[in-house]
Amino acid sequence: MNKYVKHHEWEIIEEGFHPNDNRVYESLMSLGNGSMGIRGNFEEDYSGDSLQGSYVAGVYYPDKTRVGWWKNGYPEYFAKVPNATNFLGLSIKINDEILDLSKAKEVKAFKRILNMKEGYLLRSFTIVSEDERETEIEVKRFISIVSNEIAAIKYSIKPLNYHGEITVCPYLDGDVKNEDSNYDEKFWNEIDKHSTQSFMDLTLETKKTAFRTTWASSFNATINNNFVNIDTDPILKDKYVASSFKIKVSKMDTLTIYKYISVVSNRYYDNNLLEEKAHEFLKEASDKGFEDLFQEHRRAWEKHWSESDIEIKGDIAAQQSIRFNIFQLNQTYTGEDPRLNIGPKGFTGEKYGGSTYWDTEAYCLPFYLSTAPSKIAKQLLIYRYNHLEKAKENAAKLGLRGALYPMVTMNGEECHNEWEITFEEIHRNAAISYAIYNYVKYTEDEYHLAEYGFEVLVETSRFWASRVNYNTYKDKYMILGVTGPNEYENNVNNNWYTNTMASWNLEYTIEVYTLLKEKYPADFYRLTAKLNISKEEIEKWQDIIDKMYYPHIEELDVFQQQDGYMDKEQLMVRDLPEAELPLNQNWSWDRILRSCFIKQADVLQGLFFLNHRFDLATKKRNFDFYEPRTVHESSLSPCIYSIIAGEIGYHEKAYELYLRTARLDLDNYNNDTEDGLHITSMAGTWMSIVYGFGGFRIKDSKLTLSPFIPKTWSSYSFKIMFRKRLLSISIDKENIRVNMEYGEELPIEVYDAYYDLKVNSPLNIIMKR
Ligand code: BGC
Repeated sequence: MNKYVKHHEWEIIEEGFHPNDNRVYESLMSLGNGSMGIRGNFEEDYSGDSLQGSYVAGVYYPDKTRVGWWKNGYPEYFAKVPNATNFLGLSIKINDEILDLSKAKEVKAFKRILNMKEGYLLRSFTIVSEDERETEIEVKRFISIVSNEIAAIKYSIKPLNYHGEITVCPYLDGDVKNEDSNYDEKFWNEIDKHSTQSFMDLTLETKKTAFRTTWASSFNATINNNFVNIDTDPILKDKYVASSFKIKVSKMDTLTIYKYISVVSNRYYDNNLLEEKAHEFLKEASDKGFEDLFQEHRRAWEKHWSESDIEIKGDIAAQQSIRFNIFQLNQTYTGEDPRLNIGPKGFTGEKYGGSTYWDTEAYCLPFYLSTAPSKIAKQLLIYRYNHLEKAKENAAKLGLRGALYPMVTMNGEECHNEWEITFEEIHRNAAISYAIYNYVKYTEDEYHLAEYGFEVLVETSRFWASRVNYNTYKDKYMILGVTGPNEYENNVNNNWYTNTMASWNLEYTIEVYTLLKEKYPADFYRLTAKLNISKEEIEKWQDIIDKMYYPHIEELDVFQQQDGYMDKEQLMVRDLPEAELPLNQNWSWDRILRSCFIKQADVLQGLFFLNHRFDLATKKRNFDFYEPRTVHESSLSPCIYSIIAGEIGYHEKAYELYLRTARLDLDNYNNDTEDGLHITSMAGTWMSIVYGFGGFRIKDSKLTLSPFIPKTWSSYSFKIMFRKRLLSISIDKENIRVNMEYGEELPIEVYDAYYDLKVNSPLNIIMKR
């Protein structure tokens, strides 16, 4: 396996310059703050291969759908987060020669380091020109997690063996495009621009959606830490502003350019205030200066880590990877704005359009629930609540009742356009209901149900009630023509997972109905009137629950993934020649569909969600059956298998599967890191440790742990925020130590024994072998 980065506890290190893998490193070195993000592109000009990427959260362009064969019901557009203004830009000329790593005679001592502890990117190298001039460069940059609008760059240039003249040209370049644009179209129009002495701004607006954004930038320079006067020449071109200046430098002088950037969009301010606001934020940032801005940013990261770090001793590769995953998740979503969500690639690439998938509810929610105050996770639920009307329109479009949440969305409207997924991968609805259950169970914020949850539960239940098919001969309800989470089967009947979760969705809705009636009667009457729920409707739901059909393999006592699964030739992944894997790159689609191979957790996803309903023997039988048939060609898959493996005592298997998820991007397992990082599956990696190895669950409203430790680790520890408490849990080969750093007394369960946890009075429990 190609090893891309050096192992380090807190850093992602590229050592030596790797132009052929530059896109991979650009993805790995991405920075973001929940409001914007950039790939690890270079500041100076670079003529080699690169995917320039800069993204503004929530700004999207409705790219006209492109499909081979149009089906009625397809959405008109696929929302894409447009590649936005490159604000990093800093062209450098040394004695009139452009500084470009791709054109250098030699690049020495190149390093690109992502420092996760403090949240910055550092790059250093010495560039040798054709005429043997050597110049040392060091660049540090960060996107502030304290001021959402601000980014800052410190770019130092040191001529090692010559005196010369350096031309510096900081710029904002909005003349960019998406590589994944369907019609090779550019997504932005220019609105306004200025460039004056040491200051510039550029205002652009997305076509069709009119998201207006202003980028403003100011800069200054020092030589050997003393500010110097600079005389600039403004440059204005189409969607581009720059300001150029020349400085004479002597051998071994250090010229440092500080570039500050502010990014402000009309998602938060009126169009006519954008420039003013951008200037205001920019002035505040440049008045503070690079160091002070960085220090406040560093302290904010310190706080994040003190609440969400996972420490692993004895396995530096595992340590690096889990921190990388936590770091990226915190860079992607901060929960400040309920209109934002978590795209599968976050701010690290264009693939998946930056939109929301079921990944958020199924994989990401637990991470945010446990590592941040509950209001952060709640925003993800409110996001879906706010899209309820659109989800109802979506169901109506398919001739169904209630609400069908979209498979892919930016604003609540469906963007996905493959019929077998758009119309059939309807299990996503249950994941959205499950997130409500999960949130309430975790936080005990029961009133959320009255405020938001119940309406979503009712409308998703209505969808299921209208989507089921009553089979009069069998006196059973069936769900026909679906795609389960395993996308290597389409248009199947009675996907066990979908039927199970649909029925669960109905059950939970009835449970909440009863709860509201008993405990919140005023809300109950308000909501039942608003939603027009009748006794008959509830009875119908109950009938569906009672008579739902579940495919089952009798001889093995295993849940059957869908009707007819056992008609397929039963092969095992280990029987496949390695050269044929991954199947999706080597087999024709129909061959995949006809095979028994499973893309991702399907039955196992159900066992994970409804964990409390199945005993260990059932989990074991199903794991033993499905695991050898699963190719894990979705990054979302190994984490779920790893968690179940841990639970049923297959500790080595759990670790093997964990490794597959943890270093997916760092080691470029799937050969696609260049497209961007797998942000949503990173939350699955976090679950593999906390749920899988730590055995963390909420059982009967109580926090429970049932840990084991992978053989190669000497110890590990993680933190859990739980109902206004912060717990730190450390596990080594002998002991489990549970400490509550703050919060009120809490009853917990470890390996089925009860304890009362009090603040700063740690429990020490012997590890079970
Ligand atoms: C998976 C889906 C997932 C999507 C985005 C697909 O490959 O099969 O379950 O929602 O990727 O991550």
